[in-house]
Amino acid sequence: MRPKIICHMMSSIDGRLLTQRWTRPASGIGDDIVPRLYEQVAAKLGADGFLIGRKTMAEFTGVTAHEPTTGGDAPRKIHVADRKGRAIAVVVDPQGKLSYAKDDASGDHIVAILSETVSDDYLAALRKTGVSYLFAGADGADLRRAMDVLGESFGIETLLLEGGGRINGAFLKAGLIDEISLLVYPGIDGQAGVSSVFEYVGTADERPAAGCSLRHLATETLEGGMVWLRYRMDQSPPGD
Ligand SMILES: NC(=O)c1ccc[n+]([C@@H]2O[C@H](COP(=O)([O-])OP(=O)(O)OC[C@H]3O[C@@H](n4cnc5c(N)ncnc54)[C@H](OP(=O)(O)O)[C@@H]3O)[C@@H](O)[C@H]2O)c1
Repeated sequence: MRPKIICHMMSSIDGRLLTQRWTRPASGIGDDIVPRLYEQVAAKLGADGFLIGRKTMAEFTGVTAHEPTTGGDAPRKIHVADRKGRAIAVVVDPQGKLSYAKDDASGDHIVAILSETVSDDYLAALRKTGVSYLFAGADGADLRRAMDVLGESFGIETLLLEGGGRINGAFLKAGLIDEISLLVYPGIDGQAGVSSVFEYVGTADERPAAGCSLRHLATETLEGGMVWLRYRMDQSPPGD
């Protein structure tokens, strides 16, 4: 069974995600309010780890991006490395564009979700570093299957989906989000076209959130005027 997935994000009041572009906190409120409250609230959600897109993972210390390599005959088998009791940091990197200097991101054990096109050498390098991996189908697009594997083979019950907008949009479209935990920072970006909470890339007639309804769970005003919104995502049955 797949884990419960809570999309946990922080945005400006205009829904934008690039924290370095936001207006400064009001006088008397520290700049550290953004990372500090984000992590404090994440800890309250009781998850076994977090999941992020390839671009967001590339910003972590010890992670490097490169051209992907393909090919090889070795069977594409899931690899469960030694987590040593740590939470997990899952990255969806279908083409295998990231390499890791160590097996953790901010202390959490890295699990890479890949396509079957990645090379034998790339898989060997992940095993050598102690990184776990699994496959989301031949092209790496079967997120539902990947989530089932995280539940069944890694024992993950609750996972925080932590962006960016592209990977959040893919999970939204796949109907894989159970709850939303959104921290609204009292600041503004203001620019058109800057990444927002959900950024599904599709054709103009697609509606990635079709069939979803948000059921309010709680609202809290936190330190510095940060607002924490929680919603359950109800999915209507196909055809409704
Ligand atoms: N404010 C916040 O709470 C917050 C949270 C997280 C991130 N961010 C910011 O958001 C920015 C990155 O966001 P982003 O949206 O550009 O990137 P992203 O969601 O982090 O990563 C997107 C990448 O994920 C891979 N991917 C795998 N499966 C996918 C699928 N089914 N659909 C779409 N992509 C898939 C693709 O990699 P390939 O191109 O290799 O195929 C894609 O380019 C960063 O600047 C980061 O700092 C902000």
